[in-house]
Parts: sequence; C-alpha cells; structure tokens
Amino acid sequence: MGWLFPWLLFAHVLGVVLAFGPTYAFGTYAGLAAREGGPARSFNDRARTLVNRRMVMPGTLLVLVTGFLLIWSVNYPWSSPSARWLQLSIVLYLGMIAYNLTISRRRQMRIGELMARARAAAPADGPPPPPSPEVQDLIHKVRRDGKAMGVIVILILFLMVVKPQVAL
Ligand code: HEM
Repeated sequence: MGWLFPWLLFAHVLGVVLAFGPTYAFGTYAGLAAREGGPARSFNDRARTLVNRRMVMPGTLLVLVTGFLLIWSVNYPWSSPSARWLQLSIVLYLGMIAYNLTISRRRQMRIGELMARARAAAPADGPPPPPSPEVQDLIHKVRRDGKAMGVIVILILFLMVVKPQVAL
C-alpha cells in the first residue's frame, strides 16, 4: 500500500492546516471583540463555535486518522527507538485531545452557562452585563489552555518535519 503514502500525507497536512491554522487567529479576534464589547463579543463567540465545528474538529480527526493510516500504509516502524519523535507526537496529540474534550470543554461550557444566566437576569433593553469575576477567571484559563495547545502543535510540527533522534 506504499502508493497511498503521498496521498495520505497530503490529506494529513491538509488536516493540519484546517485544524490548527484558524486557531492561531482566535486570540487576536477575541482581543478585538473584548475591546469593542457588546455585539462584537457575541459575533466572535458564534464565529469561533462555527469554525470549531466546521474546521477544527474535522481537521483534528483527519490528522489523527491519516496519521495512523500513514503508519499502516508502509508498515512504518513506529515502535523502533529511531521513531521516538513519532511516539512522543502521538502521546502529545492524544493528551491534547483528551485535555480539550474534558477540562477545557467543561470550562467553555461553564462560561456559556454563566453568561447566559447573567444575560437573562439583566434588563432586556440595557447593555449586556460585564463578565463576573468567575467568568473572567475561566476566560483567563481557557486562553492559557489555547496558548499552551498552540505551543504543543508547533512542537509536534517540529517533531514531524525534523524527526529528531530523541533519546528516552
Ligand atoms: C499537531 C499534530 C500533527 C502535525 C502538525 C503533523 C504534521 C506532519 C507533517 C508536516 C508531516 C510531513 C513531514 C515530512 O514529510 O517530512 C507529517 C508526517 C507524518 N505524520 Fe504527522 N502531524 C501531526 C500528528 C500526527 C499524528 C497524531 C500521527 C500518528 C498517529 C502522525 C503521523 C505521521 C506520519 C507517520 C508521518 C510520515 C513521516 C515520514 O514522512 O517519515 N502525525 N506530519
């Protein structure tokens, strides 16, 4: 199945572009929306949710599936000591997905819940209420998670392209 390798590699890198490209701009948009406030903030939240659903999630899955198919297509020696870079990448990638689906996701859902509750309690014709200290703390943590994931993705990209001999 070696002929499949370049096609799978193409799909793999396409998945990387889709999954992680947009996420590097999330912080810039969030900062702008926070400065402008009101409708800009709600537009940014909706846009990020949509980009997550249409690009980030399918892309993340595509990277994972094509990654394992690449290994399968050429019987890649993934367990050999010379492929520590690959083993490390798989652990980092799966760890990142697990963290995202549990801790980070729970924080994001809690932000949505608290903001909706605050909006419902505020007068309908007034400006949207400012985020409470708990929401601010959660937003801070979610942003920190996002930055850490951005760094991990760059690290995996380095491991994938350079394939350094990692002594473990
Ligand atoms: C953030 C996650 C990832 C990024 C950014 C990434 C990126 C890349 C890139 C750019 C290449 C091309 C390297 C080259 O041709 O020299 C590549 C190759 C590859 N990736 Fe990934 N990848 C990721 C996750 C994964 C995962 C989770 C797996 C395994 C399940 C995987 C398995 C592979 C394999 C087997 C190759 C072929 C290596 C070779 O050409 O010798 N990747 N990856």
